[in-house]
This record gives sequence, structure tokens and C-alpha cells, in this order.
Amino acid sequence: MSLKSTLPFSNGANARCGNVNVRNLIIITTIGIVASTYLCVSTLYSPRSPYAHLQHVPRNAPSILAKCASLNAVPSPPPNFHSRDSSDRYDPLLGAQSTLIRNATIWTGGDLGREVIHGGDILLDKGVVRSIGKDIDEKLLKTLKANDNLVELNVEGAWVMPGIVDLHSHLGVHPSPHLLGAMDGNSPHGPIVPWLRSIDGLNTHDEALKLAVAGGVTTAQVLPGSANAIGGQAFIIKLRPTTERSPTAMIVEPPHTLSNDSTSDTSQPLRWRHLKQACGENISRRYGTRMDVIWAFREAYDTARKLKVAQDDYCAKVEAGLWDDIKGETFPEELKWEVLVDVLRGRVRISNHCYEEVDLDDLVRISNEFKFHIASFHHAAEAWLVPEVLKRMHGGPPAIAIFANNHRKKREAFRGSEFAPRVLANNGIPVVMKSDHPVLNSRYLLYEAQQAHFFSLSPDLALSSIFTTPAKAAGIDHRVGYLRKGYDADVVVWDMNPLRFGARPRQVWIDGIPQLGGNLSLVSASKSLVGQDKGLRSIPKVPNWDKEREDAVKYEGLPPLAPKTITQNKVIIRSVKEAWIPGWMDVKYESEKTLGVVVFENGKVSCAGTELACLPPGSSSAAEEIDLRGGFIGPPLFSFGSPLGLEDILLEDSTGPGTSFNPYHADLPKVLGDESNTGILKSVDSLRFGTRNGLKAHLGGVTLASTSSLPGSIFTITSVFRTGAKHALDPNAIVQEAAAIHVIIERPSRSSSISVSAQIAALRKLLLQSSEGEEAEVFSRVAQGEIPIIFEVNNADIIAALIRLKKAVELKTSKQLRVVLVGASEAHLLASEIAQENIGVILNPAKSYPNEWDDARFLPGPPITNTSSVVELVKAGVTVGLGVQGGNEAWLSRFDATWAFVDSDEYLTKRQAYQMVSTNLEKLLGIEINDSERDLILVRGGDIFDAESRVVGVSIGVKGVVELF
Ligand SMILES: *[C@@H]1O[C@H](CO)[C@@H](O)[C@H](O)[C@H]1NC(C)=O
Ligand SMILES: *[C@@H]1O[C@H](CO)[C@@H](O)[C@H](O)[C@H]1NC(C)=O
Ligand SMILES: *[C@@H]1O[C@H](CO)[C@@H](O)[C@H](O)[C@H]1NC(C)=O
Ligand SMILES: *[C@@H]1O[C@H](CO)[C@@H](O)[C@H](O)[C@H]1NC(C)=O
Repeated sequence: MSLKSTLPFSNGANARCGNVNVRNLIIITTIGIVASTYLCVSTLYSPRSPYAHLQHVPRNAPSILAKCASLNAVPSPPPNFHSRDSSDRYDPLLGAQSTLIRNATIWTGGDLGREVIHGGDILLDKGVVRSIGKDIDEKLLKTLKANDNLVELNVEGAWVMPGIVDLHSHLGVHPSPHLLGAMDGNSPHGPIVPWLRSIDGLNTHDEALKLAVAGGVTTAQVLPGSANAIGGQAFIIKLRPTTERSPTAMIVEPPHTLSNDSTSDTSQPLRWRHLKQACGENISRRYGTRMDVIWAFREAYDTARKLKVAQDDYCAKVEAGLWDDIKGETFPEELKWEVLVDVLRGRVRISNHCYEEVDLDDLVRISNEFKFHIASFHHAAEAWLVPEVLKRMHGGPPAIAIFANNHRKKREAFRGSEFAPRVLANNGIPVVMKSDHPVLNSRYLLYEAQQAHFFSLSPDLALSSIFTTPAKAAGIDHRVGYLRKGYDADVVVWDMNPLRFGARPRQVWIDGIPQLGGNLSLVSASKSLVGQDKGLRSIPKVPNWDKEREDAVKYEGLPPLAPKTITQNKVIIRSVKEAWIPGWMDVKYESEKTLGVVVFENGKVSCAGTELACLPPGSSSAAEEIDLRGGFIGPPLFSFGSPLGLEDILLEDSTGPGTSFNPYHADLPKVLGDESNTGILKSVDSLRFGTRNGLKAHLGGVTLASTSSLPGSIFTITSVFRTGAKHALDPNAIVQEAAAIHVIIERPSRSSSISVSAQIAALRKLLLQSSEGEEAEVFSRVAQGEIPIIFEVNNADIIAALIRLKKAVELKTSKQLRVVLVGASEAHLLASEIAQENIGVILNPAKSYPNEWDDARFLPGPPITNTSSVVELVKAGVTVGLGVQGGNEAWLSRFDATWAFVDSDEYLTKRQAYQMVSTNLEKLLGIEINDSERDLILVRGGDIFDAESRVVGVSIGVKGVVELF
């Protein structure tokens, strides 16, 4: 009998008996003994047994041996991966076309993000970058040309980069629009659920998928939510539609454990697996204290460790040929814990949500106790304060995946800083910017990198933070995150330098398949922005923040936020390139040589013009002289829509105004009066001054802000206040106590069952019946057209119903109602009707997004649609403002104006875009300020739109001071 036919496992390297190649075995073929077993001699090979004896080799020995051998495998790409000429993701139905991108400025990701190829070409075929650089493969090109399916695009020097990689996303598991039937991100079943898998809940119809692609995002790690300590396995997907339409088809390198069975497929090199962990508030809220959560981790990893030890012992016996020692035992494994055992075997990339010093320290300790590496800490608001702790991580420091500016919403995030990326980089810690979509809209992940750069992270690391660094952290940098030969054909052509605010993709390829309509979208933009203005191609020179950054570290994330100087004395501002000062002629200086001068006395402008006009020989000197370096002076920014002024830490009830009464749902306390009062409350009574968001807004040139609705309240009397005031009794603090009434139009949903008709009936009643009481009387003032009524509403049909209500009320009162729509994502559908009724619109968020079903008909804007909501409304003649959502966003609202301007493809003037974050909002809220009492902002290094400038001071006209920051 030949050996081969006797041994079922005689094929190749796995065919071993213990550590002995089969060929060396002594086979005993006596019938009866070998009914179910082969025997092999272990003596020679086992140090443990001094005497030769026979072992009973089980029939499934080959698979046991293969399994044991596989435990040592480490994840790696297949050999010669980069010489592939076709991708495993190549889809001939969608991606048959090859593409040659000519004359590109290619940021390759190489040389730590510093490598740029000017005037290079990129050849994409069958989902792979086949050739790239100045000397592309002409022979291959010729072949592809001959096939007649090559698209050739000359991008005329435009920036071309790899597709963006979002390391932290909930795309598909928190799909948009948000509907109760598809909330699959968080399991309520315990702090430890490593057996769950995000792919099992991934909704392929998430509207946000194509929006993210329109922002240049091509790959995302879909994480389970943060409500569990070990929340489940994460999966990395490509965001394009697939022919198969399944979530599985979206996965980049499905781990072997996903398909077929739960064990490894040893025929292919091992692939990385991914796991989500979290600690701190989000878990403690549900499952006890931080101590409980950390114990849950240790208990889980202890279980995994015991299992791993049992496996290793078992395999040690098998590999020593001691088959009798495992007689009757199967390989020790448990489906529930197998992924944690894989963590201990170093085959899982962990993404760990953790904010504070204590949490980071805990997890680093656990990584050392159980000897596993955490690939990345996410959110990690305090990571920048503890670089040494991070360096102590088992296996080296993790990457830190953070937001640029989404801080202070919760206590854990209170010390988050815009300077964290740079501080981490200075400490040699890899920095990743991420969206946590839908927390931030991943379409604007690039904006996170831009802000990191604006706050002084180097250009190469800022760009790496959304391409190469996340790809490395996720173990997929052999195929995405770089533009190199053999990499996935995930490519983005940008319309300007991607570090400039407002940059948009002109085309995005995923696996070689173009994702935007046409070959290159935004053709007109390419002419006006890229073709002519070379400046927009260059990396912006950002302001110097050294002092602020040092202070941020010194004060552990809570640096003082006070102006350096407050003066009533004369202040001379030189090198002013542009000034829009109400009451003065606009000043616009075209040449560097003729920059202008503005003089302040008592906080008011006493001259604006040329040096000769404002500083004639013999004029008195000034206490302060400021060089604006080609900067700008103009009206202050105005913030509307966020809880600014009502909170210190949004999610900490004790730092906010508390929950109000929703008159549709709750019985009002008797002490508040009768039903005519309807729970209408004045937000001015809850105003807080000196909040960090408020002070930062002030330092960002946002001197005026309005409260929006009080939490839980349907009717709020809105007030307008000064962000820099000390307290409400400060004579300049309250600009208008009852500026408007803010009404939320609710949709029947989770907490509410009131119908839209009932709400409009209530409004009709409130507007047409005079009621008593100071608060309720506000409605009569609205009915008389004395103050505006603000409707927070998105849906176009409800907007139409409100317009009908407006007309009905006006018919009775013969007065014009002053109506403002806030939110208004579908307002563009009724642009001319809205304009006709003289209704104002405040778009909030400024960049529309289909959060809820009511937003479904939103206008996504370029490059998806030719036009934006802003443009459609302005074209119709509507006064438009831009709102902000979070109090933390207020100080950077100037950049929302940048986006509105860029997305208008030059339909708007810069002045119009500026008015949307400043004077239009004042106007819509009926705020009237004397020209001489106006606040003004001083911007150094440019106007408010670009990344080269910063706000260096404000004048507070009513107070008669100039403040310098
Ligand atoms: C894209 O460019 C190719 C030529 O390279 C042309 O044949 C094709 O029509 C273009 N497609 C569109 C949608 O403009
Ligand atoms: C590439 O584009 C740049 C910028 O438009 C242009 O100056 C240069 O001449 C182009 N080079 C070629 C080879 O077409
Ligand atoms: C699963 O099994 C099928 C059929 O045997 C095979 O083609 C495929 O490659 C396997 N998938 C994985 C991920 O192991
Ligand atoms: C944590 O929980 C809060 C409150 O439920 C939620 O708003 C937030 O999105 C969660 N995630 C993070 C990253 O903090």
C-alpha cells in the first residue's frame, strides 16, 4: 500500500504527525488497530518521553495540525501583492474602463507625507494603480489604448490624492435619514459583546454613503457604537455601490473568520480583524462605574487568556506528537471568545474609544497586563496631555484618532483642544482625524484635516491624518492610503489645494470606478479656481499659534480665554487690505503698497482711509499700533442656532439650563400660571456668561449671539447677547431681551405623538387670540408684526402649511408677520414662495444633510448637484443666514461662509457670503444697532474666508473699547 493512498493528510506541508514529516513515519497497517487511528512513534521527536511508545493518531489529525499551525500565522498581504494587474475588488460590470490621469500634482503619501510628484500621470486599470509618475509604463498604455476603453483626462496640474480613509465611522449602522427601524450601532446586551459584528447591521441604503464619496472618502472602518466596553467587531468597507448590492461585497479584505466557518481559511495569508472597545462615560452610564467597566475588560480578557493557554497547551502536545495526551479532547475554542483570543494572538486591530487621562491610563495598563496592542485610541480628548502614558502601551504607542474642534460637549471632552494634533505629532504619536459619522458628516472629513493644519499641524501630517495614518492603523496600508503602483485605484482629483477650506473633489474613483457624474465635475470651478488662480493650488500659510499652543498644554486644556489688552485709547491699525465699516465708505486696497489705515478712538472708528488721510503729519501717536498684514476689518460674526450661552457642557445637566416643559406633553406646574401661558419661557433667564464656548466665540470674532430654543421647550423667547460680557447685568450684555419667539415644529416620533395639524392649530390659536401674561403676550407682538417668529422646520410641506398660516393670520390682522425659517433643508423647493412672503431663512446646519426624513429632499450641493440651497434661495431673493449646531462650532462659523461662497461657484460675492454669518442674522432677528455703536472685528493676514488669517481683536462700540487678543 502506498503511503499516499494510506494517509489522508499526505498532501504537502501540513501532512505531519507531530513535528514529523509523514514520509518518516512508521506506519503500522495492522487491521483493527488502525480502524480509526494512525499510529506514529513519538520517541525520537518528543523530549518528554524517554521511551519509545506508539501514539494513537486521530483520523482528523491533519486538520488539528493545520489548525495549530495556523495559530502562528500573522496577518500580511499576499506575496507579490503590488505586482498584481487586477484587484480582487475589480468589477468588470462597473469598472471595465481604464483611466489615464495626465499632468497631475500627485500627493502620494510617501516619505511620511512629503512626497509630491509634479506633472505626473496615473494609469488605472482593473481596480489597480498600474503605473504612476513622470515615466509611466508606455507599453501597458499602448495595450490599453488598443483595447479602446481608455479614458484620458488632463487635469492640468490639479492636486490628486489617494481616497480618504475614515478610521471611525458608523456609516450603515446609524444610517441617514435617521429612522427607528435602522439603528444598529449599539447593543443593549451587556458591556462585553465581542461576538457582535458591525457588518451584520450594515444598511447599504444609507444616504450618507454617496455623500461621503462626494467628499473624497472612499474607505471607512464601520465601528459598532460606544455603549459597550467591547462592542463588537468592526469592518472596513469601500463606500461605492457594488454589483452584488450586499454589505459583504463592500468589505475590503474580509477576514477569513467571516465566511464559510468561524475558523481560519489557511489557504490564504491571514487578514487583519478589527474590534471596537470603549470606556468612560458612554459605558459607565449604563453599566456602573469606571471601576466596573475596567473589571469587565479584565474579566473578558482573562477568559480569553485561559482559552489561549488551553489552545497553546493542546497544540504543544499535538505538535510534539503526543496524541494520546489529547485523547478525547477537542481543540479548546468558544465562538463567543474567539476574537479576543485573536486579540491576544496579535491579529486584531483595536479601535478604542477613550477620552480622559484616567481611561487612557487604564487601557494602557490592561494592554500590558494581557499583552496586546491597541491600534488606535479614538476621541481621546486628553491623549495630547499624556504622551508618556501612550508610549507605555504594549507593543508601542497607538495612533490617536480625534476631532479637530468637536470638544466640550461632554465632561470627558472638556479639555479637548484644537492644538492636540500638533502636540501629539511633536511627541511622535501618529495622528488620525476621523468623523465618527454621523456625529460629524464624513463628507467633510477633509475639513477636520484642514482645521488640524490651520492650528499648526504640518501639511504633510495633516493630509496623512486622513489617508496614510488611518490606513496604517487599520492594517490596510498595503492597498489604500497611498498612490503607488499596485495600490487600489482609489483616487481623488481636487479642485484646489485640499488644505484650503472649501476644496471639493472633481472626480473620485473607487476600485478604478468613477463615482461622480461626467469625467470631471465642477468644470466651471476648475476654470475659475484652478485654471486661473494659482494661489488656490498652493498650501495656505497658516497663522502662528505657538503661544496659544504652549498655554493650552500649560493649563491642561483650559487656558485662560481673555483678551490681552482692553483699551479706550487711540489704536492705529495699519496694513488694512479691506474694510467694510458701516457708516464709512468701503475701503479696498488693491496693492500691497497702498494698504490702508483705520484709527479707533474710544472703541469707535475715527478714520478709515489712506495713511495720509488718517495719520497726517503731526497727528497724535497711539497707545497701540497693530499691523494687520493685509488684513480685514468688518462687522462681527453673529452666531445663531446652537445652545451657546445656555450651557457649559451640553451633556452635563448641572451645567445647563435644565429641561423645560413641553406643553404638548407635560402638565405645566400650576405656579407657571394657566394654560394661556403655554410654557413660553424666556431664554434670557437662563443665560450663562463666561462659558468656554462663549469666550472662544468672542475670541473668534463672534461678538453677538442669539439663544435658540431651551432644551425640551417648544416655545422659547429668544434673546440676543454679547458673548464677551461678564454677566447679564453688564450694561452691554443683553442686546435684545425678547428678540423673537422660537417655535419648534415637532414630528410625531420617539417622544411625541402630537400631529402637525395639532401644532399648527395651536399656533393659529396663539397668534389670533390675545392672551394674558408677559410671556404669552409675545404672541400678540408677533401677530402685530413687531417681532419675528422663528419656525424650526425642515420639511417643505410643513413650510407650505406655515406659509398658509401666515397668510391666514395676516388676513385677520392686516399686519405683515415677520417669519424666519430655521433648519430649512427643504426650503429651496419653495424658494420663490418664501421670497414672495418676505420670509427669511437660516440654514442649519449650514451644509445640508439628510438627518431626518423631513430633510429627504435636501440639496446636497456640488459636486453632486450643480447648485446649492444657498444659491437657490439667494437667486429667488430670500435673505439667508447660516446657523451653527454646536456651541463649540460658533467660533469657526466664518469657515461656513467660505463653503457657501465656494459652493456657489462665484454666484455669490464674498460680501454676500459674509453677511450670511453676520449682518443677515442680525437683520432676520430684528436687531438694530447704530453704526457708531457697532462692534467690528480685526482680522490679520487676510479676510475671514481663508486659512491664512486669524481674528486678532474686536472693537465693542457700545463699550467704547478695542480688545486685542
Ligand atoms: C469621458 O471622456 C471620454 C474620452 O476620454 C469620452 O469618450 C467620454 O464621452 C467622456 N464621458 C463623459 C460622461 O463626458
Ligand atoms: C501641466 O499643467 C500645468 C498647470 O496647468 C501647466 O503649466 C503645464 O504646462 C502642464 N504640463 C503639460 C505637460 O501639459
Ligand atoms: C469561502 O468558501 C468559498 C467556497 O469554497 C471560497 O471560494 C471562498 O474563497 C471562501 N472565502 C473565504 C473568505 O475564505
Ligand atoms: C456617547 O454618548 C453620548 C450620549 O448618549 C452620545 O451623544 C455620543 O454620540 C456617544 N458617543 C461618543 C463618541 O461620545
